[in-house]
Amino acid sequence: MPTMEVDGKQISWEGKKMILQACLDNGVELPHYCYHPGMSIVASCRICLVEIESPDPKDPAKLVRVPKLVPSCQTPAVPGMKVYSKSPKAVANQKAVMEFLLINHPLDCPVCDQAGECYLQDYSFKYGRSESRFDENKAKKPKKDIGKHVVLYSDRCIMCTRCVRFTREISGTGELAVFGRGHKEEIDVFQGKPLDNPLSGNVIDICPVGALLDKDFMFTQRVWFLKTTPSISPFGSGGENILIQHNQGRIYRIKPRFNAEINKWWISDDIRYGWQFVHENRLAELRVADAAHALPMAWEQAEARLEQTLLRSVSERGQGSTLLMLSPFDTTEEMFLAARYIRKVDPQAAIGLNMSRIDGQDQVFTNPTTGQVTYTIRADKSPNRSGAEKMRRHFGDNIVMFNDLASQIASGRYATVVLLADAIGHNDDELAALLSPIANRIVLSSRPSRLTGQATMVLPVCTWAEKSGVYENFEGRVQAFEKAIEPPEPARAAGHVFWNMLGMPGTYSAAQVRQVMADHGLSEYAAVSIPVHHEKVELMEFSPL
Ligand code: SF4
Ligand code: FES
Repeated sequence: MPTMEVDGKQISWEGKKMILQACLDNGVELPHYCYHPGMSIVASCRICLVEIESPDPKDPAKLVRVPKLVPSCQTPAVPGMKVYSKSPKAVANQKAVMEFLLINHPLDCPVCDQAGECYLQDYSFKYGRSESRFDENKAKKPKKDIGKHVVLYSDRCIMCTRCVRFTREISGTGELAVFGRGHKEEIDVFQGKPLDNPLSGNVIDICPVGALLDKDFMFTQRVWFLKTTPSISPFGSGGENILIQHNQGRIYRIKPRFNAEINKWWISDDIRYGWQFVHENRLAELRVADAAHALPMAWEQAEARLEQTLLRSVSERGQGSTLLMLSPFDTTEEMFLAARYIRKVDPQAAIGLNMSRIDGQDQVFTNPTTGQVTYTIRADKSPNRSGAEKMRRHFGDNIVMFNDLASQIASGRYATVVLLADAIGHNDDELAALLSPIANRIVLSSRPSRLTGQATMVLPVCTWAEKSGVYENFEGRVQAFEKAIEPPEPARAAGHVFWNMLGMPGTYSAAQVRQVMADHGLSEYAAVSIPVHHEKVELMEFSPL
């Protein structure tokens, strides 16, 4: 592996790397603004300049000092090279760049949403001067509403052009451009063409300063109050890695979490802004429709009642009269426990699976210049269809296809249905009509719907942010996520309900269920690793600089 020396430290790298990237991969910080590993290199901000000594091509044993500073983001690392980022010349450049960037920058950190996660603040402290020599009036630039999700504070912009390159190279939509010249340069959209593409929120993450802000998050929280939990997107079959940022039991925003093989640095706006359902319109009580009355009850009573209902139904109507409907929105552990419990009570119980929501075709984004695929929004909106299919195969007999349900229900085969309702309820009305002839309709759901309205028993359960588990994406990647926030009373994870009903020992945890699954021939779940839980996220995770 080639090596070079950076400020006296030996670092190594593989393949072809620029000096800056090789340093970052080795945990050596060099200041940089315009460089982003996911986009083309423009070397325009000039803060990453370093001094180098490079091997002489005619005599590689001899090092030649390059007379001018070079941009580390755009200069290839060469074996044997020496890099100086702390030399007087490099430090003088860093201070000069910071001074120029701050000349027209407003002193509005106390009211800026980016404060606490701003690289202008951080670099000003680490690499800047402690005072300004600028006595003139600062140039005033406007605040602009440039799109559905994004506001641009032009006077905070440092013209790194990351946002422009994103719309050209990643979303391929090209809404943003640099207008004007010199100190009148500004980022803007073209007249009548707002920033409106399904990936638009990513420009907020990659803006290194507080110039591009999220309308949804603006002025809701100071970032240092946020706690961060790594998670997996519940809004599609892609398995995008995300960070849930929350405070005091409330989600405030979702950010992408870097995964080189899945979503890289990006997420779609559907994932970024889809979380509101967690705090809206939740079921407030466990309920059983007893004769003409709807009776609220505690979990212990409800679990006993559920068991009685199932046992009575099997003894009256015989084995095979129970239908368990799984949802591709539930975790694999929950489906495993639900199927085990139902088959314990009714060994001939049928297991069905609700349909996914399919939105047209996969939406593929490409870099118009290179033709490379940059991001794909999957048409299948369920996060765990692969896991659900696997559970159905695992439980083998009496699998019922969705299209066969209507005729089986019409034939009067089922006396009881236990339904894990899905999180978005895309076909609630259709399901409610389909299942209405079944006498006992037990629904586990996080929100009220026509399904819960006509259920004979309703059990409020957690959303994905309130529980742990695994989702398996469209290509079969099993990825674990952890609980980010507490569920509202009286919701409980569906897995917890069936863990209790099965009389399993100890406290319910998804990790423990995976061990049980491994003991039952599903060995691939034993080794699923949990992403590290952060109290405070390192900015590098969603906004690599
Ligand atoms: S708005 Fe942000 S990302 Fe875009 S050029 Fe300005 S500083 Fe860079
Ligand atoms: S010039 Fe290298 S990061 Fe901007």
